[in-house]
Amino acid sequence: MQNLEGKTVVFFGATGGIGESVCREFQKAGANLVLVARSQDKLAKLKEELGGENIFAISADATSLTDVQKVFAESNNKFGEIDAVVISVGTWIRTSLINSPQEIIEMNDKLEASIAKPVIVVASVAQEVLRKQGRGVIFNMSSHAADSYLQGNLAYAGAKAKTSRFILNLGEELKGTGVSTCDIRPALVDTPQNREGLKNFSEEEWVKAVQPINIAEFVAEHIGSSNIPAIKFFESGIEAK
Ligand SMILES: NC(=O)c1ccc[n+]([C@@H]2O[C@H](COP(=O)([O-])OP(=O)(O)OC[C@H]3O[C@@H](n4cnc5c(N)ncnc54)[C@H](OP(=O)(O)O)[C@@H]3O)[C@@H](O)[C@H]2O)c1
Repeated sequence: MQNLEGKTVVFFGATGGIGESVCREFQKAGANLVLVARSQDKLAKLKEELGGENIFAISADATSLTDVQKVFAESNNKFGEIDAVVISVGTWIRTSLINSPQEIIEMNDKLEASIAKPVIVVASVAQEVLRKQGRGVIFNMSSHAADSYLQGNLAYAGAKAKTSRFILNLGEELKGTGVSTCDIRPALVDTPQNREGLKNFSEEEWVKAVQPINIAEFVAEHIGSSNIPAIKFFESGIEAK
């Protein structure tokens, strides 16, 4: 794993299945870390577990412009300039033909609010902050579902596609500013929450899922790089059924 001493990462969704594992790797690599999520209890627990002067936690709702602006203001106060912002907010909900039309419509509204809106709010504020510095990267944790058919994703796929399209267009708009975006598209990730919710997979199968450490290594390698891919896929050896 790339050494991240002196680098500052603002991580939205730090207490999630992916967030916790990736933040643990960043902490081991010496990064200054700003942990962001809504639940203060979970944030406090993670902050204590990670320990150290270079870990800062802020409770904020990523759908609130004022909350997100406060996160960046406090991050700047604490650590100065920001090297990378990771948006890993929102989670998967199955929507398929077993749902009624009313349920399909409601799921789409729900995921629009919980997946698409946070990315648009956080990335909109982040690009302004990073442009003032003239550098930095915004990583969006999107999904394979953003551009391919996976069963049960009638609502999730559309919300993810919206975030991916926003991040790709933002990357184009940012050309020449020193700021970049990267749309990360993992397939099924090996998280404690997924293991709990998808009990039909064995231990041998779970190790074939996307490992959070590989996502952490990719992000670490591209912080400060001038050659950041617009899209990065992470393949899994298993698929959610
Ligand atoms: N797990 C997978 O297999 C997988 C695969 C591909 C893509 N992804 C994507 O990766 C991202 C993270 O997934 P995950 O599995 O880590 O999800 P998760 O375990 O549900 O974690 C979500 C995180 O986001 C935070 N969060 C949710 N809404 C928020 C809001 N409005 N403001 C601030 N924080 C908020 C949660 O904390 P609070 O609830 O306390 O706020 C939590 O820290 C999601 O976008 C997901 O779609 C996941």
